[in-house]
Amino acid sequence: MSLPRRLLAPAPGWIVETDVVVVGSGIAGLTTALRIAAGPVGSDAGRQAGSGLRVLVVTKDVLAAGSTRWAQGGIAAALGPDDTAAAHLADTLVAGVGLCDVEAVRVLVDEGPQAVRELIELGTRFDRTSTGELSLTREGGHHADRIAHAGGDATGAEIERALVAAVLATPGIEVIEHALVLDLLPTAAGGAGAVTLHVMGEGQLDGVGAVRARAFVLATGGIGQVYAATTNPPVSTGDGVAAALRAGAVVRDLEFVQFHPTVLWLGGGAAGQQPLVSEAVRGEGAFLVDEAGTRFMRGQHELADLAPRDVVAKAILRRMRETGAEHVWLDARHFGAEKWRVRFPTILATLTSLGLDPVSQLIPVAPACHYASGGIATDLTGRTSVAGLYACGEAACTGVHGANRLASNSLLEGLVFGRRIADDVLSTVPAGTPLVDLGIDVRGMGVAAAGIRHALQQEMSADAGVIRDAAGLGRAAGSLQKLAAQRTSDPRTESWEATNLLTVASALVAAAGRRAETRGSHWREDYPEPDEDWCGHLDLRLGPDGTITTDFVAIPSSAIPTTGGPGHA
Ligand code: SIN
Repeated sequence: MSLPRRLLAPAPGWIVETDVVVVGSGIAGLTTALRIAAGPVGSDAGRQAGSGLRVLVVTKDVLAAGSTRWAQGGIAAALGPDDTAAAHLADTLVAGVGLCDVEAVRVLVDEGPQAVRELIELGTRFDRTSTGELSLTREGGHHADRIAHAGGDATGAEIERALVAAVLATPGIEVIEHALVLDLLPTAAGGAGAVTLHVMGEGQLDGVGAVRARAFVLATGGIGQVYAATTNPPVSTGDGVAAALRAGAVVRDLEFVQFHPTVLWLGGGAAGQQPLVSEAVRGEGAFLVDEAGTRFMRGQHELADLAPRDVVAKAILRRMRETGAEHVWLDARHFGAEKWRVRFPTILATLTSLGLDPVSQLIPVAPACHYASGGIATDLTGRTSVAGLYACGEAACTGVHGANRLASNSLLEGLVFGRRIADDVLSTVPAGTPLVDLGIDVRGMGVAAAGIRHALQQEMSADAGVIRDAAGLGRAAGSLQKLAAQRTSDPRTESWEATNLLTVASALVAAAGRRAETRGSHWREDYPEPDEDWCGHLDLRLGPDGTITTDFVAIPSSAIPTTGGPGHA
């Protein structure tokens, strides 16, 4: 198979310059942009004057349209009186099944509480108890109430509202909406020097152009649209991950795709973005039952219905297989009308619009693609393997999630590592430094036909979804190869997105085919157990010939996270 190393596109019709380009407008991108524009941490003078760095936020839809606004459950941080960062760390390591980077998790849990407090100072209104304390709930894999939420189950929407308002009020930040990132162009020295964009605008910047800058942050969100059914919005086509691969960056552990256990089942064959029924519903006492009314999570794990997400998703799928059912049921009838109205208004509205009454009826649910735990490999400051290129949020692999993300750690990751990227940019990119020369010309190379999207999603769901084996993954690789041969000479949004989906799907299948074990959210029927020889990462690269290579990087035994510890009685 040969994947394009550069997207076919018209030559840039315009070139603009800035200091920092942030691609993506969820919690990761906007946090990074705000902190870069604000100026050096600890300097009041700097904050008032701003950093002097020009920040350009580029987003594919409107500012508020990414995955963040769909987050329901909340943001995890050790904020409760009886909770500790050490307990949060222990729960995160257990969920990550040996593949978390302990130092990255330490950063996440130690810096998380302060980062959430800053989000509150910025104007985010989290739910409070009657005594004014933060109202904290629990989700799968957590041994403490540490999930802060807003608007009941509208946490992401409230965070996004506050961040967007702050960005719009910050003079040092410019925004281009409806702009799809195509490629990163290198400097002569091989670092990131410019980004090409297709802007669907009506103003000065329209069509394909290039933005030159000193630093680039990819915070483009997830890859969920590689599957037929996902909780991700239609914009989640892996654009940042694919562009990073084309730019020569290392992408890590893409085989670890988390399937959320309780996605509303809308009937066989439902496709596209599916409604989530937050894990917080189980955190508040709802439970799973099968067709016969049996509580099948009992006896599967000490946390039963609140076991880590991969454990619950696998148990549901096994039960569906055993009973021949297309879904299981979530029982939250005992909440009563008032609790549903106050605590889960968003989910209630969705259920009601579909004619379901959760006070008197069971809710049909089944697992669907939810979150990519892997992504563009970064260090603890968000730097990737390409100089000048950073990655953050779901697009990145910072090491905090390992083989399976702990519930509600993702908003926190975007927040904490967005702050770290900003601090690194502020200390390494002085305002006014000249831009360096670009290394090569900007001609495009190839692009897949827009029409492959549907077939790609069907194939990925059939053969590279929750349950995998060598035969299925071989079929998926063969199908992707055939789809890769379907090229077009008509570059446009749909074909660029299709090429990005093809690129990330190919990398995912290559990694899933290579990892011959079951671990976290990677479930191989033909290798049903974790294998200590596989305790390491799969680094993915797009080679000069357009093929994906996979390199296994073993975790030294001294760095393999031990599980257990505080919170694990
Ligand atoms: C949920 O509300 O169940 C989703 C939370 C998450 O994915 O972290």
